[in-house]
Amino acid sequence: IRNFCIIAHIDHGKSTLADRFLELTDSVSKRKMREQFLDQMDLEREKGITIKLQPVRLKYKGYELNLIDTPGHVDFTYEVSRSLAAVEGAILLVDATQGIQAQTLGNLYLAMEHDLTIIPVVNKIDLPNAQVEKTIQELSQLIGVKAENVLKVSAKKGLNTEKILERIIKDVPPPPKKENESFKALIFDSDYNEFKGVIVYVRVFEGSINTGGMIEMMAEKKEAEILEVGYFSPELIKSEKLKAGQIGYLVTGLKDVNQVKVGDTVIKRGVKGQPLPGYQEIKPMVFASLFPSSGEDYEKLRNAIEKLRLNDASIVFTPEHSTALGFGFRCGFLGLLHLEIVQERLEREYNLEVVTTVPSVAYRVFLDNNKMIVIHNAEEWPDPNKIRKVEEPYVKVDLVTPKEFMGEVIRLVNDYGGLYKNTEYLNFTDDSRVILHYEMPLASILIDFYDKLKSVSSGYASLNYEFADYRPTEIEKMDILVAEERVPALSTLVYKKKAYQEARRIVDTLKEVILRHQFVIKVQGVIGGKIIASAEVKALRKDVTAKLYGGDVSRKKKLSAKQKKGKKKMRARGRVEIPSKAYLKVLKR
Ligand code: GTP
Repeated sequence: IRNFCIIAHIDHGKSTLADRFLELTDSVSKRKMREQFLDQMDLEREKGITIKLQPVRLKYKGYELNLIDTPGHVDFTYEVSRSLAAVEGAILLVDATQGIQAQTLGNLYLAMEHDLTIIPVVNKIDLPNAQVEKTIQELSQLIGVKAENVLKVSAKKGLNTEKILERIIKDVPPPPKKENESFKALIFDSDYNEFKGVIVYVRVFEGSINTGGMIEMMAEKKEAEILEVGYFSPELIKSEKLKAGQIGYLVTGLKDVNQVKVGDTVIKRGVKGQPLPGYQEIKPMVFASLFPSSGEDYEKLRNAIEKLRLNDASIVFTPEHSTALGFGFRCGFLGLLHLEIVQERLEREYNLEVVTTVPSVAYRVFLDNNKMIVIHNAEEWPDPNKIRKVEEPYVKVDLVTPKEFMGEVIRLVNDYGGLYKNTEYLNFTDDSRVILHYEMPLASILIDFYDKLKSVSSGYASLNYEFADYRPTEIEKMDILVAEERVPALSTLVYKKKAYQEARRIVDTLKEVILRHQFVIKVQGVIGGKIIASAEVKALRKDVTAKLYGGDVSRKKKLSAKQKKGKKKMRARGRVEIPSKAYLKVLKR
């Protein structure tokens, strides 16, 4: 047995290489074969990206090879880290036209933390603009291997791909044979099947398990009977048992999606022992609220999120009510792509139309009484007089860029509040590409940083980041008054130094979408009782004097005065209807 995964920067060819492995090992019939076979979700196929890890068992020259295909995008690093805990080796794939990129580095460091055997491979050597020798040099220097040990392949053409399998057998150590009476396995993923219930994906570390066996999940303290065991082909294939070293699945018969925790250890019921090292609990970094477009879909939305959560343990959610958008959920995500994917999955797989609010980060607010609270939105913000200190999350950012764009990239990062750490050169003989290390507020890269980075570097720069720590910041709550009344749903949290800009934006947006009334409506942005931006929605003008032809001026004046008085009265009483479109304009992404 050999267990391995493929890691790479996004689009460097992991799924294509996995296709060649499937063919070389006759694992999928010719009839069923299609490109990027392991990307099974429709969404993955359309976007051409891997979102979920996908295990598959291959048979090759008498060996059982368990491969886990992993996603490349930074948001899904947690999928990669879980795969890494289940295997002994990793193929590090680098596109010869792109060279080492930010996620190549991020994933490599993760693999090294797990003590995996790394097999360096340069891909896409068939392309005319491939810089094969240069990429080999970069790779061999990065991981400290001889250049001749870096494999050169074309995953698309199937060139040299068999050599990778040979290397896996030769270099990756077989899993330790702990074939004893007990059973111990790591849950690295899970899925929910309407007919089978909860299915857990496991890597067995000790002993074996058969259908009918009783298991216990250590952290969750949950027992279950195994209704079926099997492996991935990549569809589920029933087998007699799973034993130490193997990767496969267990059908638990559990119906509640919350009873299984990815990263937990499964043991035989009644056997004592230490849990396997799990993974770090996944911490969501980005928060946004999801509301069903139509109010009666609230329960449907709850159900859908609960189900998604089973094969995506990183989503956290709590019910929420907003005066503007009704009942919904405050959700935590790993990043913006993750948020986008969840929203799309809800729409496609569950037929739900959802409204998503502007994403934000979590702030730590320290109060007078030394208590610390975590705040995700303005409605929870405490009385400013009681706040001693506010902290926001910072991330460590690695940017890989050709040297010619370095100036532009540095300017951009500075604009977004980046703190420079240091620079490294990727290629020691010619310093054409650099790695810039920065620390930045996570909030500042949430909105459009990635797009800007691509645009200032003609698409060449790449980005990877990981959570660093919380640091002091100056955040304030801004309220919005419409016709002198506070509208709670429109309150937002803003950086002190950007408050004016943000207030202007919101006030001007509202001015455009609030309907005119009989009187002038003031729209104001207010911080701590002070108005910092203001706009007016003009009154509808009705010429009450139009019907008076000629004659007495004093009558006209009288009528106008009466109208004025009437408007004043209306304004005093007047609640302004704010159309839901206005909320959406301000709150929606
Ligand atoms: P993510 O899952 O999104 O991280 O991407 P990936 O690493 O799985 O890359 P994928 O296999 O989807 O390949 C990305 C693109 O590169 C596809 O259009 C492939 O056809 C192409 N590609 C992959 N390998 C080769 C190769 O050896 N030569 C050429 N010419 N194209 C390749």
